[in-house]
Amino acid sequence: MKLLVCGGAGFIGSNFVRIRVRDHGDEVVVLDKLTYAGRRENLEDLDVPLVVGGIEDPEKVAEALGDGVDAIVNFAAETHVDRSIAEPDAFVRTHAVGTYVLLEAARERGTRYLQVSTDEVYGSIEEGSFTESSPLQPSSPYSATKAGADLLVASYAHTFGLETLICRGSNNYGPYQYPEKLIPLMVLNALHGDPLPVYGDGQQVRNWLYVEDFGRGIGHVLAHGTPGEAYNVGGPDECTNLEVVRRIIELTGAPESLLEYVTDRPGHDRRYSLGSEKVRALGWEAQVRFAEGLERTVRWYQEHEDWWAPIRSGDFRAYYERQYGRSLS
Ligand code: NAD
Ligand code: DAU
Repeated sequence: MKLLVCGGAGFIGSNFVRIRVRDHGDEVVVLDKLTYAGRRENLEDLDVPLVVGGIEDPEKVAEALGDGVDAIVNFAAETHVDRSIAEPDAFVRTHAVGTYVLLEAARERGTRYLQVSTDEVYGSIEEGSFTESSPLQPSSPYSATKAGADLLVASYAHTFGLETLICRGSNNYGPYQYPEKLIPLMVLNALHGDPLPVYGDGQQVRNWLYVEDFGRGIGHVLAHGTPGEAYNVGGPDECTNLEVVRRIIELTGAPESLLEYVTDRPGHDRRYSLGSEKVRALGWEAQVRFAEGLERTVRWYQEHEDWWAPIRSGDFRAYYERQYGRSLS
């Protein structure tokens, strides 16, 4: 298969490209704007062409599509909820205009289109799990603009008959995740003896999905999904944030005294939970349980200082000071 992978230099996108090239022998072209979260080094072990540009730029999209591909898979997004609260503009541009430009390019060429989306479009759920027919009730500028993109994608299937698919994943973790997110942030702070900032009471629940399981799920939906449909891809385990941080303390051997409760995130969603029966019916199953995946992830960060050292000593420091009101060691 020949694929255009947008946002393929980010965390999930680069893991997906690795799976497609190594396990499926796919030909892949990556289109990525290389924002702070997009990094060339995420792809350096792979021989894939990278077109640097935004999905909102029709000329770059045309350049990346070249003579045509079998499918477009769109991971490109601004992905951090806290940044969407501080500075929502890029979220609106990339998710609304960017998705529109890609859909138009797909429509002109009759190309199958897969949108990578998130459980956050459904909002928070205290008990039970969301199905694909649950209403979209997003809470943050991040999830609201992702939900808008999902609706636009669905409209291109309904109105123009474009072959679209949507994959809504739960919280991913694993190698190459930018350290603004809970797990890599806590691992690197624990390794450096920096405080571990838990928002609010730490009792929020997330449904953790190992990044390779999500990548395999997306591949599965691309190959076997019904055009026009959305598929939830949820992780096998739920866990409170406090429990995640305590496990990281254990795995890194950091002192418990590093744990620090800080001001809660505004509008913080209490719990996410996805029912994934529909994708299971296509033959997908998560393979990595949280205990094993977390151990693997901690080990990867311990062994890849070359990957995170430039980030942690670069622009990330200024972001951390703005977000947490203190400096990193
Ligand atoms: P990430 O922030 O690590 O990567 C995003 C990538 O998109 C980066 O390489 C960035 O440079 C690129 N990008 C941003 N704006 C762009 C633009 N305008 N044009 C082209 N490229 C652009 O994010 P991630 O965690 O890998 O998430 C990838 C996708 O998966 C997103 O759509 C996100 O909403 C979705 N998702 C993420 C999670 C999660 O837990 N991280 C869970 C479910 C779904
Ligand atoms: O659910 C899928 C979503 O998961 C994706 O769509 C998003 O792109 C991704 O960022 C993620 O969103 P969350 O807000 O759930 O992830 P984050 O890692 O930012 O936070 C996870 C939980 O940990 C959340 O309840 C907030 C909390 N947290 C986070 C940070 C960064 C803390 O308590 N302290 C922190 O310093």
